[in-house]
Amino acid sequence: MKTYGLIGKVLVHSFSKKFFTEKFAKEGIDAQYELFEMPSAEGLRQLIAEKHPSGLNVTIPYKLDVIPMMDQLDETAAEIGAVNTIKFFYGEDGAYKLMGFNTDTIGFTNSLKPLLQPWHKKALILGTGGASLAIAYSLRKLGIEYKYVSRSGKNEGLTYDHLTEEVMNEYTLIINCSPVGTFPKVDEAPAIPYQFVTGKHLLYDLVYNPEVTTFMRLGLQRGATVKSGLEMLHGQAVASWEIWNR
Ligand SMILES: NC(=O)c1ccc[n+]([C@@H]2O[C@H](COP(=O)([O-])OP(=O)(O)OC[C@H]3O[C@@H](n4cnc5c(N)ncnc54)[C@H](OP(=O)(O)O)[C@@H]3O)[C@@H](O)[C@H]2O)c1
Repeated sequence: MKTYGLIGKVLVHSFSKKFFTEKFAKEGIDAQYELFEMPSAEGLRQLIAEKHPSGLNVTIPYKLDVIPMMDQLDETAAEIGAVNTIKFFYGEDGAYKLMGFNTDTIGFTNSLKPLLQPWHKKALILGTGGASLAIAYSLRKLGIEYKYVSRSGKNEGLTYDHLTEEVMNEYTLIINCSPVGTFPKVDEAPAIPYQFVTGKHLLYDLVYNPEVTTFMRLGLQRGATVKSGLEMLHGQAVASWEIWNR
């Protein structure tokens, strides 16, 4: 039986485990998907020696930490600077190798594209963590200008206090790449001025639990188009499976 799995620090409710376990059962695939919690990314070496996984997903906080352990990096993952999928293979020298990919960008881009309108030329990325790297990369590929918004103004970005009516009118695509609003703190929402959200805005939340977040609800109340992170999550899992099996 093949072993696939997810590595991370704390893995309580895993979408991936449910997704792959159901997929294997439904399609009669002789494989299992396990959760591998580890105190540091270094645990990957021991995991490989003990479990010989056929493919791994990587989540918070190891998407950057695993990069030095890769024998090869896919071009997209290298440009993003984060890995969420590891493929294992034997090189021409017969040695066991690891190659890192990023499928968050695939999941995000495929779910965003159908919602884009001609006026969605500029985006605000809320948060500057690991996920924001894949989002920024995706926007560059789509030709959408973006600015980061964070509590400290890093990455030459704005702080939440900078979000005036003028800024909000200019940036009609707003992507929440922070965990604000995630279960159980479902009443919280990123601190943007919702009174300036209009019907031209598209509010995309990477948060997928709950499926309708307060960020989305406040956007809907202002007539905006909104999107949950669930489709992105599904899309990145499907893309990982394709990478492991090609
Ligand atoms: N749907 C999907 O497929 C998918 C994929 C990847 C990630 N995600 C979700 O996306 C979210 C971000 O993931 P990540 O890996 O980037 O997490 P992360 O590395 O922990 O970064 C989160 C960022 O959010 C901001 N932040 C954290 N707490 C905040 C608070 N209380 N108020 C305002 N901002 C806060 C921080 O930005 P500043 O300090 O700069 O303000 C931080 O850089 C998570 O909820 C994750 O589950 C979803």
